[in-house]
Amino acid sequence: MTDKNKRRNFLDYLKVQEAFDAKVAEIDQIDKFDVSFGVETSTPFESWDAGEADNFDLLNNYRYSPSPTGILRAVISQVPVNHEEVTFIDFGSGKGRVLLVASEFPFKRIIGVELSGHLCNIATRNVMQYASASKRCNDIDIRHQSAEEFEIPDDAGVFYFYEPFSSTVAEQVLENIERSIRRVPRAAVICLVGRALVPVVEGRAPWVPFGPVVQSPEDHYFDARLFTVHVDGAHTAESGSAS
Ligand SMILES: C[S@@+](CC[C@H](N)C(=O)[O-])C[C@H]1O[C@@H](n2cnc3c(N)ncnc32)[C@H](O)[C@@H]1O
Repeated sequence: MTDKNKRRNFLDYLKVQEAFDAKVAEIDQIDKFDVSFGVETSTPFESWDAGEADNFDLLNNYRYSPSPTGILRAVISQVPVNHEEVTFIDFGSGKGRVLLVASEFPFKRIIGVELSGHLCNIATRNVMQYASASKRCNDIDIRHQSAEEFEIPDDAGVFYFYEPFSSTVAEQVLENIERSIRRVPRAAVICLVGRALVPVVEGRAPWVPFGPVVQSPEDHYFDARLFTVHVDGAHTAESGSAS
């Protein structure tokens, strides 16, 4: 590709990002999550801005942009496991919005795994400042590491992904999850917000789709899909449809 074409592609990419960020800002204006809870989770962040990313990271690990809270709450309330019995993991936890909203549910523990140290520091501050009367889980842990290197805990039961990285990285993370489930068989759910990783999980053993697509109240872009492990003929602890 010529330099001119590369430049044009990059400018096109920036234009698409700008439009996407404007949409996310519009959603946040209505939602007012940050203002309501005294945190800062809304502003997108490019990994190259912190100078932390090498070439592999820039190609495989995507930028920070927050999950809208409507789809987040819808997905977490529909996961077919008992919240109290499992650890919730957000792969690519960024500024920690997912961790904060997950803490409104009575999870045993919540872990965010994030590649950027800069974003981990912001997330840690947000967790300390989060002023929610409806908090039901106080055990929130932020791990500054790459998702592929994160050791899956034996009680991890909900795995949340909002377009954090490429399918190459996702496959490695899925292998780690699957190895953990083979070693300690249990109910487990993958939540995919957005379509980017759907082709990686769809049709991949042992995952089976659970319930219909969860529709985002904000925008179809954020529609979510749940996948569960097929254990002894049952989907999970509560087999059936997401409702
Ligand atoms: C689209 S944001 C999602 C943020 C958050 N999960 C949410 O939904 O609000 C993706 C995040 O994944 C992080 N990330 C990208 N590659 C990663 C990797 N290999 N390991 C851990 N985090 C990664 C990025 O730095 C970014 O914060």
